[in-house]
Amino acid sequence: MKILLLGKNGQVGWELQRSLAPLGEVVACDFDSAGDLKADFSRPESLLPLIRSVRPDIIVNSAAHTAVDQAESEPERARAINAAAPGLIAREAAALGALLVHYSTDYVFDGSGDAPRDETAATAPLSVYGRTKLEGEELIRAAGGPHLILRTSWVYAARGGNFARTMLKLAAEREALNVIADQYGAPTGAELLADVTAHALRRTLAVPALAGTYHCVAAGETHWHGYATHVIDWARAQGVPIRVAADAVKPIPTSAYPTPARRPLNSRLDTKKLRAAFDLALPDWRGGVDRMLTEIHAR
Ligand SMILES: NC(=O)c1ccc[n+]([C@@H]2O[C@H](COP(=O)([O-])OP(=O)(O)OC[C@H]3O[C@@H](n4cnc5c(N)ncnc54)[C@H](OP(=O)(O)O)[C@@H]3O)[C@@H](O)[C@H]2O)c1
Repeated sequence: MKILLLGKNGQVGWELQRSLAPLGEVVACDFDSAGDLKADFSRPESLLPLIRSVRPDIIVNSAAHTAVDQAESEPERARAINAAAPGLIAREAAALGALLVHYSTDYVFDGSGDAPRDETAATAPLSVYGRTKLEGEELIRAAGGPHLILRTSWVYAARGGNFARTMLKLAAEREALNVIADQYGAPTGAELLADVTAHALRRTLAVPALAGTYHCVAAGETHWHGYATHVIDWARAQGVPIRVAADAVKPIPTSAYPTPARRPLNSRLDTKKLRAAFDLALPDWRGGVDRMLTEIHAR
């Protein structure tokens, strides 16, 4: 089995290098890879020779333009990376008969209401990032080949920068912090996504009818303020020097923290379909976050 992994150095891509390894030969690429393995999604047609030379049985695409605010000022680049490139990859995958795995986002929704959304909920993205990710999904479905699209939210990993690391740094430096408390979702570990991917991919190869779109997030819910408080409490309990007092982490509304891109207030995703189709249990978000904190703190 030959697997082409695109976006190998991102949060999810890094973990996929680990989780896909037992499934077969993994050819892992990123846009700074050398020579023939270079995969630059901002020039989608440049991916064709790579895919045609590798001739994979499976393509896993974790590359994306994930800088949500920056995307507002470079919509064409975001569209090339998040929509045109996945569309082209999907058409090539369909021609090869390869299974394509791709990731999408809670940002395809407008975040109204407070109920978790399932895969049949109407999409209505609020941002360039959300619109281009939705367009990517649609192009993949239109290509007509076997695919798994996993929509997720609030992804973190021990490697690289993330919200928890930023909160720890600010909590060590400042006496007060303001954190948004009206955007709800579930922090989801790149490790969990990579492990679910390997499992779902294997099952879908055996049972092709399982192909389709799924919501994949950790269980439970919080808001950014709850997430920040959890991280700071963990650090305090571990004896990490923290300057901010517990009652000085203040909840604020999204309206008090304007950003170029609008974000959904309700990012809750219903994962029933994924759990039932693949016989999976998704753990509570706190376990993965604590594990990530332990890893970054151990360094
Ligand atoms: N992060 C989140 O909170 C979140 C939430 C919901 C859904 N998702 C989705 O989950 C998937 C994985 O996200 P992630 O968190 O792993 O993202 P990430 O850490 O930002 O990784 C994305 C990867 O794409 C690469 N990339 C950027 N521009 C590229 C280009 N022109 N050509 C080729 N590669 C390029 C990045 O390289 P550089 O690092 O060198 O730029 C990086 O390796 C994506 O589909 C994303 O939309 C993420």
